[in-house]
Formats: sequence, C-alpha cells, structure tokens
Amino acid sequence: MSTLTAAPLVDTEASAVRVRDVSKSFRTRRRSHRAALEGVDLDIAPGEFLCLLGPSGCGKSTLLNILAGFDFPDSGEVLVGGHRVTGPGPDRGVLFQTPRLFPWLTTWQNVLYGPRARGLLTPALRDEAAGLLETVGLSDARDAYPHELSGGMRHRAAFARVLINHPGVLLMDEPFGALDAITRANLQRFLLSLWQERRTTIVFVTHDVEEATLLGDRVAVLSGSPGRTKSILDVGLPRPRTYDDTETLEFVTAKRRIREVLEAAP
Ligand SMILES: Nc1ncnc2c1ncn2[C@@H]1O[C@H](COP(=O)(O)OP(=O)(O)OP(=O)(O)O)[C@@H](O)[C@H]1O
Ligand SMILES: [Mg+2]
Repeated sequence: MSTLTAAPLVDTEASAVRVRDVSKSFRTRRRSHRAALEGVDLDIAPGEFLCLLGPSGCGKSTLLNILAGFDFPDSGEVLVGGHRVTGPGPDRGVLFQTPRLFPWLTTWQNVLYGPRARGLLTPALRDEAAGLLETVGLSDARDAYPHELSGGMRHRAAFARVLINHPGVLLMDEPFGALDAITRANLQRFLLSLWQERRTTIVFVTHDVEEATLLGDRVAVLSGSPGRTKSILDVGLPRPRTYDDTETLEFVTAKRRIREVLEAAP
C-alpha cells in the first residue's frame, strides 16, 4: 500500500465536535417509544481520534447518524465547528456500517462523484483518486460496478470515495468490521498514516477493543440500552503508532483497562 501524498491539511479549528445532552428514541410498532440514546455528552477536540465502543444496540450508529445530520436528536444538540448540525454537509465524511455506493456508477466514477458534483474535478484530483484506489487495493476494479465487488471491496471503495473530499470530520461506523484480517490491518495502518498527516477529527465506531486501542486518542464507552456515556478513557499510548505496537506491554495494559470498563456492569 502506498502512503498518502499531496493531502492538504484540513482547517482543524472548524472540526471540533460537541455532543450536548443528546437523547433519541424511536417509535416502535406498538406505538410506544424505545430510547436509543439518553443524555449523551461528548466533547471531541479538533484533530482528535475518538473511538466509540459499546454493546450491540446501544445506539452507536444512531449517534453517528445524528453527527452526520441524517437523523436528529429529540433533545440536546450537536455542534460541528461551532455550528449546530441541521443536515449532512461536505465538512463531514461518513462511512456507514453498510457501504453506500451509487449502483449505476463504476468504482472510479463513485470515487470521483463528490469532486465532480462540486465542480472541483482537476487533473491533480484524478491523480489523487488513482492513488487512493491503489492504497485501498482497488486499482484493478476501477471499472467494475458495485454489484461486481465483494462486500469488503465495497467498503474500501466507499472509503476512497469519502477521502477524496478531504472532510474535516470523518465519521466511521465499524468500517473495517467486514474485512479479512490482512486487509483490515492494511487499512488500519493507512488510517493511522492518514490521521498523522491530515489530523482529521475522527469518530470511529468499533466492537474491537484492540482496534480502539491502536487507533484512538480516547475511547468513549457507551452503556447498553438506552446508550449513555459510561466512561471516556485516554488511551495514553505515544504517537505515531504502528501495528507492531500491539505487541508491547504498554499496549496490552491499555487494552485490558478499556476491556475492563467495557465489560463492567453499568
Ligand atoms: N430507524 C429505527 N427505527 C426504530 N428503531 C431503531 C432505528 N434505528 C435504531 N433503532 C433502535 O435503536 C437502538 C440503537 O440502535 P443502533 O443501530 O444505533 O445500535 P448500535 O449500537 O449501532 O448497534 P450495533 O453495534 O449492532 O451496530 C436499537 O434498539 C435499535 O433497535
Ligand atoms: Mg451500529
């Protein structure tokens, strides 16, 4: 995998994320309400890499959808760069738990969709798109349509499609969960180098304590149904990190501390 080149630094001041006392419930079929999030507070600094851990169904995707502007809290508010989120915007790049690509466009066209739609398609951007496809291992699949790609390939295409837009905030919902171990490790490496270079603010949902420990500056642990902020932990490991760090005593100790909080009773 190649490293990133020619990636301009984002305006980090515009990329602080604040979640203030956010609650959200959904109407069930029996016309009652099920609380998905209750009083969630999070302050994510510009350029911070925050991992979100919690049991299945605790509201992680709901929170990410609210940050993305695809859904709205019943109470509380979300601010990005000091502005209240009222809908999706190019300041936030979103990778969904299930990759979303335009089925009528090839991989190449999907990746270039954002710049083209905003009239920003330059030769330099095409070069960058080619580099991103190489990085995510899809150079040979650039003319394939989404239905011709495997699930993991679709995840990687969606990743390249988001990165070409240089969002100040990256919202990632278990983006590597469906990938094989080698591809996953490669993309974790790539994400670490990307963050090191661009200092994008990242909110990264994962089930995997090791992944959270490797990637995150802090880990926010949500408790189950309805999701509440149970604990926010500093990972406390030096940067830059590499995959080899996962074998150090410091790493194993940090991972154990996070696992204990995750597994402790609410
Ligand atoms: N559109 C919806 N309509 C009704 N209920 C919903 C909707 N979206 C989420 N929920 C409910 O809200 C709760 C939180 O769901 P969410 O998908 O946010 O959990 P999650 O933490 O992302 O889970 P997982 O780790 O399995 O992806 C669940 O009880 C779910 O059933
Ligand atoms: Mg989810």
